[in-house]
Amino acid sequence: MPPETIVELSRELRVELGDRSYPILIGPGLLGQPDRWAPLLRGRQVLLVTDSNVAPHYLDSARAALCGKSLDVVILPAGEAQKSMANLDSLMQRLAGLGASRDACVVALGGGVIGDLSGFAAACWMRGVPFLQLPTTLLAMVDSSVGGKTAINLPQGKNLVGAFHQPLAVVADTDTLATLPDRELRSGLAEVIKYGAITDAAFLDWLDQHRDALLARDAAALTEAIERSCRHKADIVARDETERGERALLNFGHSFGHAIEAIAGYGEVLHGEAVAIGMCMAARLAARLEMASGDDAERLSSLLQAFGLPTQRPANLAPEKLLDAMRLDKKNLSGRLRLILWRGAGRAEMVDGVESADILRAIAAAGAA
Ligand code: NAD
Ligand code: GLY
Repeated sequence: MPPETIVELSRELRVELGDRSYPILIGPGLLGQPDRWAPLLRGRQVLLVTDSNVAPHYLDSARAALCGKSLDVVILPAGEAQKSMANLDSLMQRLAGLGASRDACVVALGGGVIGDLSGFAAACWMRGVPFLQLPTTLLAMVDSSVGGKTAINLPQGKNLVGAFHQPLAVVADTDTLATLPDRELRSGLAEVIKYGAITDAAFLDWLDQHRDALLARDAAALTEAIERSCRHKADIVARDETERGERALLNFGHSFGHAIEAIAGYGEVLHGEAVAIGMCMAARLAARLEMASGDDAERLSSLLQAFGLPTQRPANLAPEKLLDAMRLDKKNLSGRLRLILWRGAGRAEMVDGVESADILRAIAAAGAA
């Protein structure tokens, strides 16, 4: 790639959190430019965590970037099921084996599964050691690597055990998206669409206009989508790091989506797919409650479908079972369901005390695929 194209496709943002502020670097070839990020790792010991799909493509570059460190590498099987208590335990054992001290760093090379799990390990080891995100999926670049939410799943629900632990930096090498399977790319685009849905209606129009380019992995279009998404996330996180209010809006579609993931069996429905179905349910529920028009819900559903995302509930998923699983959502208080709905494109809102009957009808209205 010519140097001027690299410059054109490179962006740098910042998450402003006082003395825990950090950069988000976005651009081609960043794994091969460690001078731009490796100096942030001060200590000698590094635990690098990745998965079996990512390692064959990118582990060598990451290893080379970390040469000179006392390095241990963990390669986990790929998939959502790896965000488990058992793997948290095994990462703790590896950190102990490395003799990791408080300045040791945990480096996540992979998608949101690797980032969430290893970030939580970093948060737990000695009550918190530095952590670096090297996201390799679109979903991780636009959402999970930014903002410091780390977690593992329980059979009862997604992300039920976790911590807020901000990374030292997010380094998104956009070249890594070349090897991402199409289904995973679309899953990431669901979270991109979410930013438009909750806060930026003009971004939804832009996404509609650039759909073909995004699905064809046009570098300029993807860079723009990643930058705009990260800008939204960084701004919201800077205003509400630990989800006292506004940050909850980032969970539009997630109360439904997390329940779908847990019931379907982790990894059966991808996170972004579940969020796409969940956003349609939330939009339909908002229409039922007369907060927004049914046309808004239909437009969102059409956009998601045009990006190849599912919008209907999986066939074997009964509405009652989904509602039951939603009762363990982290946003709920004192046993009352708290949902993120909207007043139309770009205007998400938190709503308490929605009647179960209305939720069930919105779930049922999302058909069955
Ligand atoms: P993932 O980590 O499972 O990655 C998706 C798949 O792509 C995996 O099979 C992985 O091996 C493969 N892969 C990754 N990079 C690749 C590459 N460059 N080339 C080829 N294959 C590659 O899933 P994900 O979609 O990245 O993340 C989903 C997870 O993120 C969920 O657990 C979700 O709960 C979590 N999440 C967290 C936050 C947060 O704020 N912490 C936000 C959104 C989602
Ligand atoms: N993905 C939701 C959040 O980071 O708050």
